[in-house]
Amino acid sequence: MNGPRILLIVGGGIAAYKACELVRLIRKGAGEVTCVLTDGGAKFVTPLALAALSENPVHTTLWDLKNEVEMGHIQLSRQADLIVVCPATANLLAKMTTGIADDLATTLLLATDKPVLAVPAMNVKMWQHAATARNIEALRAAGVVVMQPDEGTMACGEFGPGRLPEPFAVWHQIAELLGFDPGAEDDGNSEDPGLGGLSASLISRSKKQGKPLEDLSGEGELPEMADAGPLLEELPPEDAPQPPLDLGGPVLARKGRAKSAPPTDPEAINHLVAAKQGAAPEPIEGDSFGISVGLSAAASGTSSETGELLADQPNFAFDPDNQPLLGKHILVTAGPTHEPIDPVRYIANRSSGKQGYAIAGAAAAAGAQVTLISGPVNLATPRGVDRVDVETARQMADAVKKALPADAAIMVAAVADWRTTDSYGEKIKKRGSAPPALMLTENPDILASVSAGKQRPKLLIGFAAETEDVLDNAKEKRKRKGVDWIVANDVSSRGGKSVMGGDANIIHIVTPGGIESLPEMSKADVARALVERIADALSKK
Ligand code: PMT
Repeated sequence: MNGPRILLIVGGGIAAYKACELVRLIRKGAGEVTCVLTDGGAKFVTPLALAALSENPVHTTLWDLKNEVEMGHIQLSRQADLIVVCPATANLLAKMTTGIADDLATTLLLATDKPVLAVPAMNVKMWQHAATARNIEALRAAGVVVMQPDEGTMACGEFGPGRLPEPFAVWHQIAELLGFDPGAEDDGNSEDPGLGGLSASLISRSKKQGKPLEDLSGEGELPEMADAGPLLEELPPEDAPQPPLDLGGPVLARKGRAKSAPPTDPEAINHLVAAKQGAAPEPIEGDSFGISVGLSAAASGTSSETGELLADQPNFAFDPDNQPLLGKHILVTAGPTHEPIDPVRYIANRSSGKQGYAIAGAAAAAGAQVTLISGPVNLATPRGVDRVDVETARQMADAVKKALPADAAIMVAAVADWRTTDSYGEKIKKRGSAPPALMLTENPDILASVSAGKQRPKLLIGFAAETEDVLDNAKEKRKRKGVDWIVANDVSSRGGKSVMGGDANIIHIVTPGGIESLPEMSKADVARALVERIADALSKK
């Protein structure tokens, strides 16, 4: 690739000085960097310093009319390959979580369609505060990569995580996300003068100057600044060992590096997996791989409830001579999600899970190790499939994350777009005639975050349930979600029949190369057709 194009948002905190070194590393790596300074950031580094290092104008305000004419903030948010927030203060992270857009930086973060890397830096107590932890969790679930801060002694005497990772570690993370070689770390002998000359004169308290820690505290009015999170961050000692990068959570990358799945393990096949993660799955009693796969439903089907395939569930024949997906790990999501309102009510949709279950069954019959993440449905587990039951979108996002890496992922689930902001512990009572108001909030987009994640499968397929302009919407969705294929189906109810819940489907496979429309067929045949194409595509990748 050409050098990466980075939009660097510099938040307000003492660690902002490290942003200068990061700019230098990006430039040294042949990257382009455009800086955005928050008001707080500008208290620590000047626009001039960043402009000199980046060789680009530095943006500080949303109300720059000239720029709005020549390059609006929307365009600015879209023209980079990656947005890096460094340092990301507690305040900036909170605004990102809630979608507050009250200055240029936060508006760009809300408007962007590009992956975002946040590099937090703040006092240890602020980092460990429940509010920050909640924000980090929400951001990660939404697909933002949040780096783990370094650990060390704070200027205030506190010890713990909160220090901004070294710029080289951030540069490494950027390289990993965008899929290029970051090169070797400066060994101090290189001819590159680094920031020694320029930044030391621009920034009064740099690491090289070796000022005592105490000098960093007592910055008068600074703690009152909205953006001043990491004031108490300590500068690391010169010889401090660098902890390994803990990337935590899903990691955004434009190009993933899916590791191949472990070979199909007879012990790990054909069992139900409880929603509880981490424990080794228990095989179903009496099951054994090799004789169970492909037997008739009545003889050997499995079901979460009865151990029997349901009458209208397809049973895919296992052909030992036709195993095009052998050794591949295929991840499938299926069914609806249920978003609780109270203990007895929930928000849901009409997905039955039939299409996703058929694809999982067909992939297993083609030799794949299949993990099926399923919302609440009334279906039996297809033969040879590992099933993880979940209820809500957030649980599904979590289960998907844990099931990766995979060679291919087919996201058939009809994930609820919204959930209620509050789930009531007790049944909401009818009071008078006024219905209760339900406040809704958006669920994480699982597909988009897998697409942007570090473990993106080689082949990522989304489904698009459309009721109008099926092909146009599907094409747009393929791009927006960053997936390889979108399988579009019309889910509007026609003559009382609908794809959702029904046994037949008409699909259009939208790929970068064009659109293939298949005639109406059973969901089992749709599954076979897709598995055939998936095996073909994986063999070429
Ligand atoms: O289950 P059946 O009764 O057999 O019906 C099959 C089906 C109609 C549900 C299936 O064929 C289908 O179209 N599934 C996708 C349903 C859907 O949610 O479409 P969407 O256009 O809203 O979402 C697009 C893609 O994003 C989907 O791959 C979806 O899984 C994914 N998504 C959506 C929202 C969200 N928060 N996270 C997601 O990952």
